[in-house]
Amino acid sequence: MTTTAEIVKNNKDYTIASWSVQNAWNPIVMDRAEGVYFWDAEGKRYIDWSSQLVNVNVGHSHPHVIEAIRNQIGKMGYAQPSIATEARGQLGELLAEITPGKITKAFFTNGGTDAIETAIKIARMFTGKQKILTRYRSYHGATFGAASAGGDPRRHGHGPGVPDIVRLPDPYAYRSPVYNGRTQEEGDLIMADMVEEIVQMEDPKSCAAILIEGYSGTSGIIQPTEVYWNRLHQICQKYDMLLIVDEVMSGFGRTGEWFGVDNYPNVQPDIIATAKGITSGYVPLGATIVSEEIANYFNDHMFSMGLTYSAHPLAMAAGVANIEVYRSENLIENSRDMGKVLRRGLNDLAEKHQVIGDIRGTGLHQVIELVKNRETREALSGFQQPFTEPLQIVYKTLRDEGMSTFVRWNMIFNCPPLTITEAQLKEGLDIIDHALTKIDGYYEG
Ligand SMILES: Cc1ncc(COP(=O)(O)O)c(C=O)c1O
Repeated sequence: MTTTAEIVKNNKDYTIASWSVQNAWNPIVMDRAEGVYFWDAEGKRYIDWSSQLVNVNVGHSHPHVIEAIRNQIGKMGYAQPSIATEARGQLGELLAEITPGKITKAFFTNGGTDAIETAIKIARMFTGKQKILTRYRSYHGATFGAASAGGDPRRHGHGPGVPDIVRLPDPYAYRSPVYNGRTQEEGDLIMADMVEEIVQMEDPKSCAAILIEGYSGTSGIIQPTEVYWNRLHQICQKYDMLLIVDEVMSGFGRTGEWFGVDNYPNVQPDIIATAKGITSGYVPLGATIVSEEIANYFNDHMFSMGLTYSAHPLAMAAGVANIEVYRSENLIENSRDMGKVLRRGLNDLAEKHQVIGDIRGTGLHQVIELVKNRETREALSGFQQPFTEPLQIVYKTLRDEGMSTFVRWNMIFNCPPLTITEAQLKEGLDIIDHALTKIDGYYEG
């Protein structure tokens, strides 16, 4: 039998880890997984507090999804994208049912990045304009177009990206000086007015779309209020721009709604790009889903995009089965309800640990920001810097005590599978409590 050390060695010797200096890669070996837990090769159990990459929304090893994939592969392993399949039509129809308003027709991709690439292409083809406006603190994927669209530092390190991406400042109420002495709504309105000014300076005749996460994700769950969203929507309408909403992470119940943008009922996207929870990661899949108007445009114009694995039958079957699970197990509602429990638990932790400076998010999509001082809000570890000592301690304690989650800069992400129970939430919050107890002494307020 291969030992844990040999498995790690093989992984490290022959494969490359994402977003890592390779010598620093110190992976857990996952052996099996079920529900909100997974086990390493030596039998140690971890609570999956980030649903892997915020995608295993229905939990691990869900029998209905496994069965659907099994049934599908028993009939065919692959069908090229110009062939129709039953599961493809079913998934398209289900997506039209659950997406907001006029969004009706899907192009299937391999994941979130190429769903974003497709959305940008569609916006350029449909409007005949080029510029795409995106936020600094955003992530939209890893290939050149999507990486250029994302504003956070993951776009750096490989030379110039694609042209005609215009960057927008962030509605970051906790840190942006615009919010000093103002309510979040007042600050949000100023930030949204700045978007209009930027459109005017860039020339509205060249601006194709605003691209924004339906609910901000790994850049720090930095989310404006409805005031901002409504204004953005108006700006798009006023200047004939499309509103592309990135629902790769915030889709499929993550925020207690089907899609993050559903938290803003007056906002109607023109294009939704999604992935992750569409199959909960069981098979890679993304989708770019467009309004009826855009879909109709391509009835007599060439749709210049294609992928060998577009609408892969296994992904289609996994997508249908996932939506069935979300519905039959009321997981969107559970995310909303458990999100409230999670928030109460995080609030309790903030009463106990002064290092918690801010808590943001909704549903099972929440983050805490750790600070040295609540007055100055100085971060306990720097943005895009290696972890300082207290963050190293947090990271190590969580892992030692059996929690797997994202810890980035000075933030701990709380995004477990949507199937999580109150007792399991308590278990996770207790682990975070232990980790924070170890770093209380680093508070300088
Ligand atoms: C908001 C958002 N958009 C796009 C992507 C890229 O998706 P993928 O990694 O599936 O290509 C991600 C991935 O984390 C994401 O969080």
